[in-house]
Amino acid sequence: MAAADAKRGSIQGTKHDFTGAYNRTWPHAYFRAHLALDYVISDRAKPVFEGIFAKYRRVRKKTKLKIVDVGCSYGINAALLRTDLDLDDLYAAYLKSGGSLSGRQEIEHRAFFRDRGLRDDIQFIGVDPSFRAVKYAQSMGLLESGIPADLESRDLSVKERCALVESDIIISTGCVGYATERTFARVYDASATSRPWVVAFAMHPFSYDKIATALEGFGLETKLAAQFRQRQRRFSTRAERRAILKGMRKLGMEDHLERTTGYIYASCYISAPPGEADLRAHSGDPC
Ligand SMILES: C[S@@+](CC[C@H](N)C(=O)[O-])C[C@H]1O[C@@H](n2cnc3c(N)ncnc32)[C@H](O)[C@@H]1O
Repeated sequence: MAAADAKRGSIQGTKHDFTGAYNRTWPHAYFRAHLALDYVISDRAKPVFEGIFAKYRRVRKKTKLKIVDVGCSYGINAALLRTDLDLDDLYAAYLKSGGSLSGRQEIEHRAFFRDRGLRDDIQFIGVDPSFRAVKYAQSMGLLESGIPADLESRDLSVKERCALVESDIIISTGCVGYATERTFARVYDASATSRPWVVAFAMHPFSYDKIATALEGFGLETKLAAQFRQRQRRFSTRAERRAILKGMRKLGMEDHLERTTGYIYASCYISAPPGEADLRAHSGDPC
């Protein structure tokens, strides 16, 4: 591990590798791999996002929202936030024998989401280098448009920038670490005229400092919303547990939940123009 990575609490190399499931034509391998480690962050994040969307609507006096999901994968946050489904519903639909999404018929998958009454007052734009996953999410009607790009290594095209204008809120679950300040700065730069808020869950021990600094450059204030810390998933191995606890210790992160529950947690960071999100630290309700 490079010295700079060690300083930032990097766990690359020992972190469980899900990448084989990220870019498939169908999402089944993704759901199987994530259920095996009880991956729940998108489900736990749903009520937090909903509370923040409600607050944003009041502050900005808007009803229709344009949400950018960084690391959108197969459109899971969009599916959860545009329907009454929870993540267990999706795990069962995709993985149970005879489940509504267990087959591989595009028309059936599309009908499944359509029949759940996808709300259209929240529109999603997805960013993810896993182009097959983005394509699936788009063809299911979960995303309005998709940006199948690795913004760590390249700039947005003009067409991709256009897709991001007038955004309201940029969200992310399970992606900080893959996506760094480079990606967030590029996404924000393309959407900056509408001054979107950014709400991201970062798994421990990934530091959010550099992303917060990049967003500060756009005039945003970032707060750790400690009350919204959520379970991300179980530790995969004892070696991963050791590496994550070591990384957390290095960064001075509180680790009693990781030590006692067997789960890795994710911290929630909210960035907004100063004073706008008005988060009361440690209250259960941001709104
Ligand atoms: C653990 S999955 C999380 C997916 C989804 N947000 C969720 O919580 O269910 C991580 C996702 O990050 C994506 N990813 C990897 N590198 C990325 C990058 N440079 N920029 C954006 N997303 C990236 C992967 O393709 C994958 O879809």
